[in-house]
Amino acid sequence: MTSLHERPFGGTVGDAVPHESATAHVTGHALYTDDLGVRLSNLLHAWPVQAPHAHARVTRMDTSQALNVSGVVRVLTAADVPGTNDAGVKGDEPLFPTEVMYHGHPVVWVLGDSIDAARLGALAVEVEYEPLPSLISIHDAIAAESFQGAQSTLRRGDIHLGFEGAAHTFEGEFEFGGQEHFYLETNAALAYVDEAGQIFIQSSTQHPSETQEIAAHVLGLEAAQVTVQCLRMGGGFGGKEMQPHGYAAIAALGSVLTGRPVRLRLNRTQDMTMTGKRHPFHARWKVAFDESGKLRALQATLTSDGGWSLDLSEPVMARALCHIDNAYYIPHVEVHGRIARTNKTSQTAFRGFGGPQGMLVIEDILGRCAPLLGTQAHELRRLNFYQPGEATPYGQPVRHAERLEDLWAQLLVSGNFENRQREVRAFNDAHPHTKRGLAITPVKFGISFNFTAYNQAGALVHVYKDGSVLINHGGTEMGQGLHTKMIQVAATALGVPVGWVRLAPTRTDKVPNTSATAASSGADLNGGAIKNACEQIKERLSGVAAGALGVHPNDVRFEEGLVFPLGHPDKGMDFKALVHDAYHLRTQLWAAGFYRTPGLHWDRVAMHGEPFKYFAYGAAITEVEVDGFSGLYRTRRVDILQDVGDSLSPLIDLGQVEGGYVQGAGWLTLEELRWDESDGPNRGRLSTQAASTYKLPSFSEMPEVFNVALMERATESGVVYGSKAVGEPPLMLGISAREALRQAAAAFGPAGRTQELASPATPEAVFWALENARQVHGAAQPGNVVAADD
Ligand code: MTE
Ligand code: MOS
Repeated sequence: MTSLHERPFGGTVGDAVPHESATAHVTGHALYTDDLGVRLSNLLHAWPVQAPHAHARVTRMDTSQALNVSGVVRVLTAADVPGTNDAGVKGDEPLFPTEVMYHGHPVVWVLGDSIDAARLGALAVEVEYEPLPSLISIHDAIAAESFQGAQSTLRRGDIHLGFEGAAHTFEGEFEFGGQEHFYLETNAALAYVDEAGQIFIQSSTQHPSETQEIAAHVLGLEAAQVTVQCLRMGGGFGGKEMQPHGYAAIAALGSVLTGRPVRLRLNRTQDMTMTGKRHPFHARWKVAFDESGKLRALQATLTSDGGWSLDLSEPVMARALCHIDNAYYIPHVEVHGRIARTNKTSQTAFRGFGGPQGMLVIEDILGRCAPLLGTQAHELRRLNFYQPGEATPYGQPVRHAERLEDLWAQLLVSGNFENRQREVRAFNDAHPHTKRGLAITPVKFGISFNFTAYNQAGALVHVYKDGSVLINHGGTEMGQGLHTKMIQVAATALGVPVGWVRLAPTRTDKVPNTSATAASSGADLNGGAIKNACEQIKERLSGVAAGALGVHPNDVRFEEGLVFPLGHPDKGMDFKALVHDAYHLRTQLWAAGFYRTPGLHWDRVAMHGEPFKYFAYGAAITEVEVDGFSGLYRTRRVDILQDVGDSLSPLIDLGQVEGGYVQGAGWLTLEELRWDESDGPNRGRLSTQAASTYKLPSFSEMPEVFNVALMERATESGVVYGSKAVGEPPLMLGISAREALRQAAAAFGPAGRTQELASPATPEAVFWALENARQVHGAAQPGNVVAADD
């Protein structure tokens, strides 16, 4: 077997092939979970009854009127659950609740012959509620000490020593908003009991094995009786790591009780009002710098708004704590993390999984403190980069720390940073009512699941006797191009053209016990497993070929569908002919592959260990222009350099980097979730429940110039074909957009003062920031960054 990172000559990894479903996506031929229902007869549709209170007790429920609605077949209630009435893995998410925990919480589900019948049936269900006191804002939750789950602390060094006698000490507060996933395909499931009595569920899920586990426990069945398939998702972004389970369980329960297939697809409003989002955070911090501007100490308390149930809030907080250092060495650290419980949707994974929140805190600190230290933000950042040999606060050596500097230096040149900084200054001097801002920020993101057990994957590779190849692996496709990469990996490992490899949908009866496709590790893990399976097959084929070619098995080469003795491509045979012969010699032509990431360990309580296989690095420069009358802005130019190791599939990776940046910038600049915090009748209601009120990035917000490059000669040893994960890290490059807006807003006031900026930095927020800057005129510092040593 070859080493994991080595690439054979002529392999298809690294080729710029289009996404395997690109044509199907753009022609409408790509099918999604909810497209499959119409193929079944007798299909039932599910519709929820959503509670109109943020917090309430259900005091009476009468479903009889619903059953009088024409076309209504059944109302699913808690009494129907044969197993466990819970939709999660923490035991705190009743599928049919008696206590409403958030506005929009589904209390029962109605099944009907048509969507309209189910919807009208849901309107006819009579529910009486006794409203209870609710907590909506994170401030109220903190004041009420309403927390959930474990609290954890990340510690290194001696925080008192760090602050003692430090040249500069600052402290402040920062609160920032969450984010709606807004995947194009909302949550969907389709279930039926098949001819053998097995429960078969099609689900738009990033974690089919856990969807299987939850559906089984709701039904009181064992995992072996339930199969979950995920054909593809129209986006997941973390929102389908844990949220799909309950919907799959409802569909499965309905099909078991009625004997008919059941489909459930949330419409956009239901998805927005019922499913969890990125966690909003509140941070209180204190930081110390030495004379030269080097970070000495960071003390902080991060509070995330977890919503009504725990969901993934604990691991999200762990990742936030593990990324509060971002790219910077901080000798003395004490950061405390806690999760507020509020009466809102249960906040969950979202691209970056807490990493962006942790990173935003330190980037905000540096952006705010640089002027107070008399330096420029980009120089302060660069000064504090990890150096080779240094370790993170949780004790992991920062491997390839020098890549960060290389990347930074390259990007400053390719992005023409210094010249443009001069241009921006000249522009700002000449324009009193329009200002430009230019910022560069780095990303260092740990790759692997903190939860060590998740770092395993399986695959099933079949070579049929005609030489065609079918692969199956435990990862799911959500648009990120994992399947494309896996086809390239299999084709490379077997030495055949990509066109010979077909990939079958992800199913729990093919590859069991899979991890969520998450933490950006899909390609690393499943690629490792596929390569392992292919190599087992190739080894057997080598034995057969060696006999036919008269060479040692180790000297047989597989390339582009040919099999030949090392150094003699002319003396080869066709891969298909070899497979045919091997079959007749009774050779096993399929294999199950397995991969576990080596060298990981993590102590969740002590917050210490080496949870990551490696770090993904990147940096971005953003230039914006802000209008002083309205706060409106546009993005003039973005330059990105991202370290993806040796790319498995460059077109896919470019798409991931572009999409990640835009999604990150959207979170920080446009997308604002607002809940009704009043004491009125709509308290707790999500006010932004459609694209009309929740502003997503669209074509008009795209950067006018968008240069994305992947770092060259960046082989990552120990990862499949030398690649690195790309799914999440680029999201955090969007922080540069926020920092550029800070620079532009600051340019409306005198130099050398700190500039605060709300997050998201909507045009409205930018207007108030620049208004604040304009009113200073060199007078007292506004806001709450105070020099603690004054
Ligand atoms: N890209 C697209 N197009 N759609 C998605 O839903 N999810 C992101 C990222 N890129 C996502 C995406 C998230 S949250 C993760 S963790 C990774 O893809 C997961 O896939 P990977 O492990 O194969 O990179
Ligand atoms: Mo991604 S947030 O790890 O699904």
